[in-house]
Amino acid sequence: MDSLHPIFTEQRTILISSSPYTPVYVKQELAVLGFETLQVGFTTVETKGTFEDTIRLNLHLRTGNHVYLLIEQFIAKTIEELYQKTLAIEWEKILPVDGYFSVHNVTDHEEAANTMFLNLRVKDAIADRFMSTMEKRPDSGSEKERAVIFIYWKDNEAMLYLDTTGEPLTKHGYRKISLKAPLQESLAASIIMATRWTTQDSFVNPMCGSGTLAIEAALMACGKPPGLIRNNFGFMHLTGYRPSVYDALYASAHAAVLKEIPGKIIASDLSLEALDAAKSNATGAGVEQLIQFIKSDFQNTPMPESPGVVIFNPPYGERLGSSEQLELLYASIGDFMKKSCKGYWGYILTANPELAKKVGLKTKRKIDFYNGQLKCKLLEYELYDGSRKIKALNEIAEA
Ligand SMILES: C[S@@+](CC[C@H](N)C(=O)[O-])C[C@H]1O[C@@H](n2cnc3c(N)ncnc32)[C@H](O)[C@@H]1O
Repeated sequence: MDSLHPIFTEQRTILISSSPYTPVYVKQELAVLGFETLQVGFTTVETKGTFEDTIRLNLHLRTGNHVYLLIEQFIAKTIEELYQKTLAIEWEKILPVDGYFSVHNVTDHEEAANTMFLNLRVKDAIADRFMSTMEKRPDSGSEKERAVIFIYWKDNEAMLYLDTTGEPLTKHGYRKISLKAPLQESLAASIIMATRWTTQDSFVNPMCGSGTLAIEAALMACGKPPGLIRNNFGFMHLTGYRPSVYDALYASAHAAVLKEIPGKIIASDLSLEALDAAKSNATGAGVEQLIQFIKSDFQNTPMPESPGVVIFNPPYGERLGSSEQLELLYASIGDFMKKSCKGYWGYILTANPELAKKVGLKTKRKIDFYNGQLKCKLLEYELYDGSRKIKALNEIAEA
């Protein structure tokens, strides 16, 4: 194909999806990467940029799920109108004829009550366009490992996007072993961004399970973008993709990764199986040397010097264990934070408000998240360092 579709050269709308309540963290990441936020929704953030920008976003974003690049936006009152308008797009300048693509959608249109049918009609339009212009067509199916087209059709307004991500960024590509109830990697990154942790401080994650929180903290501390861990993205399967552009972006991101980090990161768990999984996942992420793994009851986790954060993702009751047993656990987490984590900020992520009451400490903030389908709160506790507080009060009194 000698000419490229303008989507590969022009500035376009870029839409980034993320979990509910997390667009605020996507927005923060965008600002650091030099992107302007144009709109924030419940699970989306809109910005603008080029196809090359989508490559950079896919490499760097920790909290996003998909990076979509707008191909075209039009009114379609019927599925036939949508088919015709999709057929008119120069797909032969977007998708390689010998490639593979899949179509996915979000719709509330009455003519697309069967969402599979909508995917099929968009796929038909693309295939028919290829047949009429090139007399052959790419393969298609439901897999997201190659080119992915995304259609959003609501209130007769259709938006066709390239899903430049493909397999979602929710998985950062290092977790080979999942235990029960692991946190999604992108959600763990958002949770850490919601805390008061700075990469200079200590980060302690008792009950670490498969290690997601500690691994995400280590990735942040050394400045390693999660996109360096995976090697396949949707953008790689489009006609406008130039490996040299990706290689250069990859190399500059890689060159900026720190070998050492200023703060201490500790992950502990009672279960040897959990700790082995956490270590192996950290190795997959290339950050095992930055985390101290300790097999211990959470109450024996050694606490480095403050300032720092201590963060728990204990069982909630809904998915693991029973509430009766867990009441004691939550109470002892409260005791541990009060006695052993002075000068720290403490955090507990839980979907169970009744158990949260057993912690017995005053919450400073309650931050909303969804862990899968479960509505959760990240509870924040200020764990005063008694001596410091008295010293500060004396200083105020003397002033
Ligand atoms: C919900 S999982 C944590 C999931 C983790 N955030 C992840 O992404 O994989 C809870 C973990 O707490 C650990 N655990 C339960 N009771 C404990 C205790 N008393 N001391 C230390 N760890 C404990 C379990 O072994 C389990 O790995």
